[in-house]
Amino acid sequence: MNGKCATAAILSIFAAFLTTSVQAQPQAAAPSLVAPVAAQAWMDKSLAPDIRADLVQAQLTHEEELTLVRGYFGANNRGRTDAYPDGIRKALPGSAGYVAGIPRLSIPALTESDASLGVANGGEMRPGDQAVALPSSLLTAATWNSALAYAGGAMIGAEARRKGFNVMLAGGIDLAREPRGGRTFEYVGEDPLLAGVMAGEAIRGTQDQRIISTIKHFALNDQETGRNTMSANISDAAMRESDLLAFEIAIERGDPGAVMCSYNRINTVYACENDILLNKILKGDWGYKGFVLSDWGAVHSTVEAANNGLDQESAYNFDKEDYFGAALGQALAAGTVPQARLHDMVHRILRTMFAKGLFDNPPVKKPIDAGADLAVAQRDAEEGIVLLKNAKKLLPISFVKRPSRRITIIGGYADLGVLSGGGSSQVIPVGNVPELEVLTGGAVRMGPDQKPQIPTGTIILSPPSPYAAIRSLAPWARVVYYDGSDIAKAAALARISDIVIVFAQQWTGEGWDVPDLSLPGNQDELIAAVAGANPRTIVAIESGTPVTMPWLDKVGAVLETWYPGNRGANAIARILFGAVNPSGRLPITFPQSESQLPRTAIPGRERAYMRLPLEDTHSPFDVDYTEGANVGYKWFKSKKLIPLFPFGFGLSYTSFDFSRLKAAGGAALTVTFDMRNTGKREGMATAQVYATPPGGVARLIGWSKLDLKPGETRRVSLTTDPRLLASFDSEAKLWRVAAGDYGLALGSSSADISAGATVHMDASTIKP
Ligand code: BGC
Repeated sequence: MNGKCATAAILSIFAAFLTTSVQAQPQAAAPSLVAPVAAQAWMDKSLAPDIRADLVQAQLTHEEELTLVRGYFGANNRGRTDAYPDGIRKALPGSAGYVAGIPRLSIPALTESDASLGVANGGEMRPGDQAVALPSSLLTAATWNSALAYAGGAMIGAEARRKGFNVMLAGGIDLAREPRGGRTFEYVGEDPLLAGVMAGEAIRGTQDQRIISTIKHFALNDQETGRNTMSANISDAAMRESDLLAFEIAIERGDPGAVMCSYNRINTVYACENDILLNKILKGDWGYKGFVLSDWGAVHSTVEAANNGLDQESAYNFDKEDYFGAALGQALAAGTVPQARLHDMVHRILRTMFAKGLFDNPPVKKPIDAGADLAVAQRDAEEGIVLLKNAKKLLPISFVKRPSRRITIIGGYADLGVLSGGGSSQVIPVGNVPELEVLTGGAVRMGPDQKPQIPTGTIILSPPSPYAAIRSLAPWARVVYYDGSDIAKAAALARISDIVIVFAQQWTGEGWDVPDLSLPGNQDELIAAVAGANPRTIVAIESGTPVTMPWLDKVGAVLETWYPGNRGANAIARILFGAVNPSGRLPITFPQSESQLPRTAIPGRERAYMRLPLEDTHSPFDVDYTEGANVGYKWFKSKKLIPLFPFGFGLSYTSFDFSRLKAAGGAALTVTFDMRNTGKREGMATAQVYATPPGGVARLIGWSKLDLKPGETRRVSLTTDPRLLASFDSEAKLWRVAAGDYGLALGSSSADISAGATVHMDASTIKP
């Protein structure tokens, strides 16, 4: 391992990652000075946000209105400062974005940072600029515990305030339609209800700290390969029932102040200039009152973008041209963008800033409360790690405590820390970040038959190390670590051990997809050899996506730990030794192989250069989402495919029984059932209910996660959101629940059903 660390490496790599071809930009016109307003009536907190916005907007000059719709890339930008109106760089160092305020009217600047997994530190890590790294959002989704999603969001919001940010570019929710997606770890799985609830709660948590959170990337940015040019082609009904339903639910629950439109095209039209998506669906059908900001480099026009719904160009110096600078002024003068449209953009931005507290509660810089925040990260990890296999109750490790006991830990840099995903969401975790691994692969050109390689990047490991955490829980044992580089040696060590824990890693990141779902390198071979030498082998996987497991039959136990964050090692150790009873459930299907997926290879990959995101060299290409709304387990069910592990699956150290399912249908569907702990120790059960409409495919319609004592039974009642039973009628723009008999299944996963029922529903319609 090349253990050369550190700041310089991060800087250069992030600079390469974040910097696009920056062209010289004309300086924006300086706002004209208007006499100060004596009484700033809009500062009256008792007024409604729309009224306050109207009051302040009436004072704005044309130039000032234009200032508010155009933002700057916050990070160093190769030292350039000419992007700022007065030549002075004002963004917080290392941050993602900055939109100048209007001090004379007390309008604060927007100070923006990434994002969903903690306060990211961009390209300019400086001592003391660390933040608590939450586990990946996919892990949070695996908790199926909306309170934890809220707590994580609130933790991030609180840290953001203390670092001076008032906008978090959080709320990643693109459905895991393409499990190989490089950002699968930043999102919340494959089901619209689970994703919508979890992302919505995280956003609510962040915004309760009186800052704005985005939801992103709107929409169908479901793969990274060719993300700047690919077109996600899908019918209106299918997108409304899948990817857009996830956004719709999350927006209702979390009320994000801003929506970030995505890089890709949808049905051939770029998301940030997509009238159907932005004007018709988001602002029209859903009545969204916040503002639409662009992803960094996702704007392609002035007139189309402005008229079709984009309200703010986030980082004009990332876009190919300065679309919302002088060009917007000219379009307004020429009347190709109506003046009223500029007023609407500005109104949306200002009313959101009032509504979310940016005027009344500006962030106050102070040190983060790392102790409290790490506890949030640990609880999340403890509930989101999924126990996938536990043959002969190998776990929890419970052998007699004797110094002669030998626990061998192999691979995965488990002596250093746990893995995190790469890209703009990267948090520099708190603690003594041990080593930063710089891969030397480089940007690789690949032909149709070649496997793409991982691009150059910095792998950041979160402390503490699993080795240290395991040792602290087993001080009586002889715990040894071996890096696994020599498979024969690893097997020999396994042979003389009482128990072996192999740490397996799959690094993923923004801007590239993994070529397949196998563990990279020779890890599959390593695990097979170790398990062959000692069946008491536990595999702890740190991955951004589902992975395949050719060695599954040989090993004793498997834990999917995702990217478990800044207290991930502690959570893993506590699960291994039984201090925590695992309760995570898969938010994404684990296929047996890529051949089971709707697309056996990532579209566009054959002509891909494995380049970093903004240097995307793809020519435009189409991806036809012919599976429609059948994403993930719905695809598997519709094709009668048996996955390696189904959506919703996860084991516990106790056992549960779900029974006495009763359903009341008619106009609305309510289900009632018993959840019982039939085992010998306390544990958290997650009962899931799936409904199958007449002629349709099963859909998750609700779940209940409960902590149950041994022998305890609780009766639970859930009322279903009727959209989950409906199909979308694109002509009438309505959800329609068809009259008929609906199959209901109560179970511990989408495939393990313990009780069923049939319920009759009346026909009904729901307005979006
Ligand atoms: C990512 C966004 C992120 C933005 C700012 C983009 O490359 O797609 O998710 O918020 O950069 O860092």
